[in-house]
Amino acid sequence: MKVLITGTSQGIGKAIAEHFLQQGHTVTGIDRQDASIDHAAYTHCKCDVRDTEKLPPIDDVEILINNAGTQNEADIDINLKALITITEKYGLQPRIRSILNIGSASAHTGAEFPEYCASKGGVLAYTKNVAMRIAPYGATCNSLDPGGVLTPLNDCVMNDPVLWAQIMAETPLKRWATPEEMAQWAYFLTVTNKFCTGQSILVDGGEAINYHFVWKD
Ligand SMILES: NC(=O)c1ccc[n+]([C@@H]2O[C@H](COP(=O)([O-])OP(=O)(O)OC[C@H]3O[C@@H](n4cnc5c(N)ncnc54)[C@H](O)[C@@H]3O)[C@@H](O)[C@H]2O)c1
Repeated sequence: MKVLITGTSQGIGKAIAEHFLQQGHTVTGIDRQDASIDHAAYTHCKCDVRDTEKLPPIDDVEILINNAGTQNEADIDINLKALITITEKYGLQPRIRSILNIGSASAHTGAEFPEYCASKGGVLAYTKNVAMRIAPYGATCNSLDPGGVLTPLNDCVMNDPVLWAQIMAETPLKRWATPEEMAQWAYFLTVTNKFCTGQSILVDGGEAINYHFVWKD
């Protein structure tokens, strides 16, 4: 299938692109960094997702995965507004089969940075809006909402042993996900899945259910 993925130069987006390529799909990646994937079925467009004038003309996208995102750098503009622009441009057309937005556990808990969690909360609502609008094409739209994933985005805490120990104490499964695990979820939700739509799939190792029950002994 013809797949468009944003943010493919590193992290989760790169792992998703590589997984689709391994499964024989044709992938176009949009990223503001240079390409880091060398494969005959991969085309790289070096472009900022906010730069509407420079977004490449691509017809008949069948799978769209909105993954490009940042923390504490114009989060609403990049994580939400650009995601909406890209979806309206490439996703709202009859050939679309599925759209997946990479959200965050932060949208469910309100944790992390103010603009970041608000941007991801917007993604959660917009996912439902799009799901209704592409349902007439028989297509699905969901969000995949990770907790911690081992990517360069998190280098500053992954490389700090004290902070890392604190983070693991808050994480019931005592580890973070790998980008490859997220790629498998992305593949399932966009290729295997045909009937789940408008949903936000939280994959966070139990962080969001890590409550502490208080009761009399
Ligand atoms: N890593 C985590 O723990 C985690 C948790 C929850 C959600 N997420 C989400 O997953 C997505 C990917 O995160 P990651 O951890 O792989 O991050 P990352 O920083 O490792 O990779 C992000 C990629 O997106 C690209 N990108 C960022 N802004 C861009 C822009 N304006 N235009 C074009 N390309 C741009 C970057 O160049 C980079 O290649 C993000 O939406 C992030 O919010 C990550």
